[in-house]
Amino acid sequence: MIQFEDVGKMYPATSKGGEPTIAVQEFSLRIEDGEFCSIVGPSGCGKTTILNMLAGFETPTRGQIVVGDDVVTKPGPERTVVFQRPSLLPWMTVSDNIGFGLTIRDKNPKGHQQEIMQMVEEMGLSGFESHFPYQLSGGMQQRVSIARALITDPTSLLMDEPFGALDAQTRSDMQRFLLELWKTSQPTVLFITHDVDEAILLSDRVVVMTPRPGMVAEEFSIELKRPRKWDSILSTEFLRYKKQILSVLRQEAG
Ligand SMILES: Nc1ncnc2c1ncn2[C@@H]1O[C@H](COP(=O)(O)OP(=O)(O)O)[C@@H](O)[C@H]1O
Ligand SMILES: [Mg+2]
Repeated sequence: MIQFEDVGKMYPATSKGGEPTIAVQEFSLRIEDGEFCSIVGPSGCGKTTILNMLAGFETPTRGQIVVGDDVVTKPGPERTVVFQRPSLLPWMTVSDNIGFGLTIRDKNPKGHQQEIMQMVEEMGLSGFESHFPYQLSGGMQQRVSIARALITDPTSLLMDEPFGALDAQTRSDMQRFLLELWKTSQPTVLFITHDVDEAILLSDRVVVMTPRPGMVAEEFSIELKRPRKWDSILSTEFLRYKKQILSVLRQEAG
């Protein structure tokens, strides 16, 4: 269980005489084990800040975040992050970058070559396993970053607009793959996106945030039956959720 308890985050002024930024205020949210929860909200409303606090990269200036029985004070291997931009080790090949994720739980990733190759294939990276990051497109680099996170089979997966830079077809493939993986190993997922379709398609619950300082504006339980497919977004029920969510977003935007 992940619980944000009245969390606030203020960044100090970045220039002399400047104003501090209140990024997040009175943010409370509980995510159940195995739940797929998405956050949508306008750019700059504090979504990344929320994820970074849960990841342990930033400290709340108010309130606390509890995971299981522990207050989050630092990063931990049970909370794996996929960043908005690819974050690869430039001197390592694709397969070594993917295997690097495994060094967190196992000192000898060489024993996992089969697992790595399976991930390479699932991610559509076959033939590129010996390439270095600079030899790949941005979208491919991001797929390697995602593979590196998923291969660790994390208890919680924190994803910050992970598919934002991918083309439509790859994005759709990644969504399908993520849903399959989630069904099999049931990690708790906090997924940030500004794509409402993506949020509804993937999630058990969609949390809509207010503009900065970010708070929860409204939550929607998505009761569309699973498994969901790309064409689920055309159903009447889906469109009903979409309309409700867009209307809250518009209302919040003033
Ligand atoms: N390290 C930082 N120092 C100062 N201000 C920051 C920092 N990180 C984010 N901010 C500010 O906090 C607000 C929320 O940012 P962010 O969490 O990145 O929003 P989002 O991910 O929803 O676009 C923005 O106004 C941003 O400029
Ligand atoms: Mg962000």
